[in-house]
Amino acid sequence: MTSLYDMKEKVAFVTGAGMGGLGAQSAITLAKAGCHVVVADIADRKQDLDQTLAQINNHSDQSFAVTMDITKEEEIDQAIDQVIARFGKLDILVNCSGVMLRKPTFDTSIEEWQRIIDVNLTGTWLLARRAARHLTEQGHGKIINFSSLYSDMVGPLPEPAYYASKSGVVNLTRGLAMEWGKHNIQVNCIAPGVFFPTNMTGPLAEQQGRLEQMEERTLLGRLGDPKKDISGVVLFLASPASDYITGQKIAVDGGWSSW
Ligand SMILES: NC(=O)c1ccc[n+]([C@@H]2O[C@H](COP(=O)([O-])OP(=O)(O)OC[C@H]3O[C@@H](n4cnc5c(N)ncnc54)[C@H](O)[C@@H]3O)[C@@H](O)[C@H]2O)c1
Repeated sequence: MTSLYDMKEKVAFVTGAGMGGLGAQSAITLAKAGCHVVVADIADRKQDLDQTLAQINNHSDQSFAVTMDITKEEEIDQAIDQVIARFGKLDILVNCSGVMLRKPTFDTSIEEWQRIIDVNLTGTWLLARRAARHLTEQGHGKIINFSSLYSDMVGPLPEPAYYASKSGVVNLTRGLAMEWGKHNIQVNCIAPGVFFPTNMTGPLAEQQGRLEQMEERTLLGRLGDPKKDISGVVLFLASPASDYITGQKIAVDGGWSSW
């Protein structure tokens, strides 16, 4: 039974791991399970990234941190090259970088719109493509993308660029799963909602009654806890337990999307 979740000596690369949110927790989960984990985030988040790394190093002293902007191909290249140089392989990619824009359409500039699409959708594609050059060669690999509860429904706030980008991640996931399945690569995405508090969801607390309204919308009557509720699905999708699952979106939302 334990071999289903055996992650010893696996190498994982986790983006968006610098702000203590779902990326950081995914990285810590994989390190606890036995992986060597390379954590990545933008240069501005280097200090936060080092904090994540300090927690990971309690479990895996070969793990390290890289700074990388997921919209910049040359930075992606350098980051993945470092992983291969150190470990000679890559087994798992967790694509957890993301940005939010809560703004009505008439107030949104093309630059603001483009940034959301660039980070959430194009960045996911760029990094998956770069990682898959190794995964296809080695004949196995797991790619876990982060979509959202708001990928086939919308929420109460004006976030149209975010909704569009996260819908894109779901069908991108299916498309990549279709292309790389014959190389024994599983590509799936997680659709979380709503995990509080993280850097992205923290500002929701400023609106009176908003968190209570969201809690009531779930079937479990509570919001997701970033420190514990994302770990199980990340471990499952990264491990041999999910070897026959690909092209899927897995909702982790307390039942929000089921009604
Ligand atoms: N928290 C939730 O309730 C929730 C719900 C649905 C989806 N998600 C998704 O889960 C992921 C993690 O969300 P979170 O709540 O932990 O948010 P977060 O803001 O804590 O984490 C996002 C991370 O992405 C990084 N990032 C931003 N731009 C980047 C770039 N250009 N290159 C590389 N990294 C970049 C940020 O620095 C940050 O560390 C996101 O993709 C988000 O859209 C979160």
